[in-house]
Amino acid sequence: MHSSPWPSSESHDHKGTLMCGPPPITTLTATAAPQTMTLSLGDLAPDFTAETADGEIRFHEWLGESWGVLFSHPADFTPVCTTELGAVARLHDQFAARNTKVAAVSVDAADAHRAWAPDIAETQGAEVNFPLIADPDRRVATLYGMIHPRHDDTATVRSVFVIGPDKKVKLTLTYPASTGRHFGEILRVIDSLQLTAAHRVATPADWELGEDVIITPAVSQEEAARRFPDHRVIKPYLRLTAQPGSA
Ligand code: BEZ
Repeated sequence: MHSSPWPSSESHDHKGTLMCGPPPITTLTATAAPQTMTLSLGDLAPDFTAETADGEIRFHEWLGESWGVLFSHPADFTPVCTTELGAVARLHDQFAARNTKVAAVSVDAADAHRAWAPDIAETQGAEVNFPLIADPDRRVATLYGMIHPRHDDTATVRSVFVIGPDKKVKLTLTYPASTGRHFGEILRVIDSLQLTAAHRVATPADWELGEDVIITPAVSQEEAARRFPDHRVIKPYLRLTAQPGSA
């Protein structure tokens, strides 16, 4: 038998009236972790102004009409973060080819970012070629919910936000401090997001650019026949077609 997640299924309110079911929500929030902002897919990515290693950034203005990736790392002068920022620097042309601007953020100060950057260039084979946002007062981290207090109550976790040209959040990812991210996966997701924003398709598991895609269930059979004349019906709900624009 499952035990109830609630302290008791019966309780009394402050007037002594017997109440059934879960306790009021105020009881739950009183014991919950400190509140941080949680951003969901489709939310507006918060705008901010902050210092970077190379001067001020006004985030939305800087993004302009581009897609964006905002990613946080726990701390400067740390080994996994050094490899991550190097990996992103090496992928500069790949992000640019996708009309995507990238910015990194941590709670370190701009001076620390500037002092660390030569180590990244020296050890990772690429100069940092994207903004390193300084967030010592945690304003950006709080706006984006990048501090997970039960993991680390001071440093940012490894968050990723992909932001569309409409400034809406299209993807969120959270990795722990101990695991460096695979930035090829982030490029792959951007490919999927950009394709599926333009066509009535979705991408299957492990899909890579150029491979067959799925016709979304919202497309009728009649419309599928018109739009994707060479598609294959595996099941009525699983219809595959060549990636639009790939021929
Ligand atoms: C790192 O980047 O190596 C790291 C940072 C914080 C905690 C653990 C590892």
